[in-house]
Amino acid sequence: MSFGDDFVFGGATAAYQIEGAATLGGRGPSIWDTFSHTEGRVVNGDTGDVAIDHYHRYKDDVAIMASLGLEAYRFSVSWPRIQPEGRGPALEAGLDFYSRLTDELLGAGIDPWITLYHWDLPQALQDAGGWPNRDIAYRFAEYSALVHEHLGDRVKHWITLNEPFCSSLIGYASGRHAPGLQDPSAALSSVHHLLLGHGLAVDALRAQNVAHVGITLNLYAVEPASDDAVDTDAARRVDGFHNRLFLDPVLKGRYPQDILHDTAEFGGMGDVRDGDLDIISRPLDLLGVNYYTRYVITGREDHPDLVDKRTGQLDSPYPGAAHAREVRHGMPLTDLGWEIDPDGLYDVLTRLKREYPAVPIVITENGAAFADPLGDDGVVHDADRIDYVRGHLAACERAIADGVPLQGYFLWSIFDNYEWAEGYAKRFGAVHVDYETQVRTPKHSALWYSGVIRSRSLDEQS
Ligand code: FCB
Repeated sequence: MSFGDDFVFGGATAAYQIEGAATLGGRGPSIWDTFSHTEGRVVNGDTGDVAIDHYHRYKDDVAIMASLGLEAYRFSVSWPRIQPEGRGPALEAGLDFYSRLTDELLGAGIDPWITLYHWDLPQALQDAGGWPNRDIAYRFAEYSALVHEHLGDRVKHWITLNEPFCSSLIGYASGRHAPGLQDPSAALSSVHHLLLGHGLAVDALRAQNVAHVGITLNLYAVEPASDDAVDTDAARRVDGFHNRLFLDPVLKGRYPQDILHDTAEFGGMGDVRDGDLDIISRPLDLLGVNYYTRYVITGREDHPDLVDKRTGQLDSPYPGAAHAREVRHGMPLTDLGWEIDPDGLYDVLTRLKREYPAVPIVITENGAAFADPLGDDGVVHDADRIDYVRGHLAACERAIADGVPLQGYFLWSIFDNYEWAEGYAKRFGAVHVDYETQVRTPKHSALWYSGVIRSRSLDEQS
């Protein structure tokens, strides 16, 4: 048995990617509704209006998860379903939906884990300036308190933000995610205000005696393409933006000096006030890690193996470091073109142990998109996905053996869903969803994962 009884095996989703019911129950629009309805933003013009209609089918979905033996389910609460304008009293219909979902999960023996913010900022708050506006951090803490007040009696694990890198530097710098802006200074202010919102939400939840609270960061193993200074400097910057810019303030109470220096021309992290970093670095009960790939980075514009040929600051998520780009390093690719590198997960986990204060770690997302052909038997035989998950779980085992306090693993995703700017074209699910009929069919990987959970080992699964 390689995973102890206390190790949690779960699956993850996010509200906008699965719920649909975009206008029901008084839900207001979020920045993702606006973005997805703007021509040219999302592949095929896909939107989350219907998604996998989880809002109506949540009971069936919980039953599927129970049949697979999932121990925990990480879902996000849609802020505009609770506060359509991003402020004011909570909508009963919104709270009631998540309350019914929570009860259904508990009744099925599945532990609910809540993410409070998985990218769907109420559009009204974007109209008020969005994350570059400091006030939004306070609104987020108020919203978090409303949700915890209602569900904290039954939900024991709370994650404030999912991947603030994406909400800030992709949303406001490269513009490839909502709200789709390209303003490096605004993006850096967003980093600070998201983290401040996280700290304020931790305080608000602690005031209500939250059981466990943490944050989820998307971390990468980052390496230079060569020993050349052009590449090592570019890799240092990418590591800074993806990893240290979030880990250092949250776990050490300071921003990395080199990144502050590199971003000085854009105003650094903006309006950082006395005491902010104390709030941002409140002690946590868990650190959520989302891991997908390793980045091998060059600073050479003419590198022959560039993944993305685009240049120029405006398309880059790295303020002041548009020249820093990823190169292929010869690993197999997922359907999204992400290199499959499970050793990178081991490297991320052991680095956390080496360089940061100890905090229980949970993999809150890991998984892969593949083309997933449907077999004649009506089942998707997704051997690629099984290999991916097996490799990454093996990396988890090694990290645990080396003393990393890793306590759980959540597969992204249990169901096929709306993959943000990629729309419905890319499938991450262990359960296939027919988007026309909404029929759900477990793929081979779902059955395999179920076997891993049952046996708590990778060895017995073919
Ligand atoms: C992460 C997101 C998640 C999903 C996966 C593939 O960045 O948190 O919602 O889209 O990527």
